[in-house]
Amino acid sequence: NNFLLVLAGGIGSRIWPYSRQNKPKQFQDILGIGKSFLQMTVERFSDVVPSERVYILTNENYKTLIMQELPELKENQILLEPCMRNTAPCIAYATWKIHQLNSDANVIIAPSDHFISRKYRFEAIVKEALDLAVDKKSIVTLGMTPHRPNTGYGYIEIDEEKPNGTAFAVKKFTEKPDLKTAIQFINAGNYLWNAGLFIASTQALKDSFEKFTPSLAVIFDTIEKDLNTDKEQETINVHYPDCEDISIDFGIMEKSEDILCIPAEIGWSDVGTWGSLYEMSEKNQEGNVIHGNALTFDTKNCLIKLPDDKLAIVEGLSNYIVAQNDNALMICPLESEQRVKEYLKTLKEKK
Ligand code: GDD
Ligand code: MG
Repeated sequence: NNFLLVLAGGIGSRIWPYSRQNKPKQFQDILGIGKSFLQMTVERFSDVVPSERVYILTNENYKTLIMQELPELKENQILLEPCMRNTAPCIAYATWKIHQLNSDANVIIAPSDHFISRKYRFEAIVKEALDLAVDKKSIVTLGMTPHRPNTGYGYIEIDEEKPNGTAFAVKKFTEKPDLKTAIQFINAGNYLWNAGLFIASTQALKDSFEKFTPSLAVIFDTIEKDLNTDKEQETINVHYPDCEDISIDFGIMEKSEDILCIPAEIGWSDVGTWGSLYEMSEKNQEGNVIHGNALTFDTKNCLIKLPDDKLAIVEGLSNYIVAQNDNALMICPLESEQRVKEYLKTLKEKK
């Protein structure tokens, strides 16, 4: 009764221009491994969840891309959202749907655009988390050792208490703190990064939605009768736009008191920003990470990423991102990695 819900409807805007709206990061092979992040994600769970219990949660625009990348899945394993409402509504949709199929179900909610190098360790931890979820009350998250005050993550304050051997009780979950707060958290020493992976029973999730985001619970209670019938898509298309636009982190994780956290050394990176790609990549003597054909002079600690058919000469830069994809080029300081989202907003407004 374990199901996998893969979140694959985001647009990965902070890694623009590599991630573009028509082909976001999860469908790309940014690391040059020969597989997209989405394909790697599904493969990572192949020994935990059988493929008929894998569901991909995404925007209707990406249906074809997903069917191409994951031909083993049936069409009804791809849940389509008619508009973007962030992660809480799509998780609610899948939760209500799966719970109707199996009221004893547990779900693993996984982002589709992360990298994990230690697959076997990861698998073992996910199995431990599934064992904890049978209490039908806890939401289990995996905690990553933080190494810088990154403002793009959720921070998990763990209690000293380990109520059940492997997992810590969570005192407080703080999503995307400001820099000052993130520095305090790092210095305090009892905070871990949320990896965006959640393991829980559908019962615990339903109860949490009812308590903390009741407007979503009402919508899915109302349309429950059409789920898993021929009317499902039509009904979703009518009612999904009414869902509140909110992430699971703000909607539930920050409010719930039943969160457990398993610290997990699994070689995780969310490759969510240019800085995280820089961090995880091998650097040359000057501290540069160069993907593609670039000649550098007096340039250090830069990330340069170009398509195969491009050539660049870079002089006099340090701590910069130079990233080109298709017709778009971005040059900005590495420390502005979180601002890429703002740049894109401005770009959209100017269009
Ligand atoms: N189906 C669907 N629909 N998926 C979505 C949507 C949506 O509207 N929006 C985002 N996603 C997917 C993304 O594709 C990604 O796989 C996952 O949900 C998480 O969304 P992000 O937008 O990447 O979240 P984040 O990186 O800002 O923050 C989350 O991840 C961090 C770790 O990488 C949070 O969970 C943080 O607490 C966490 O630290
Ligand atoms: Mg992310």
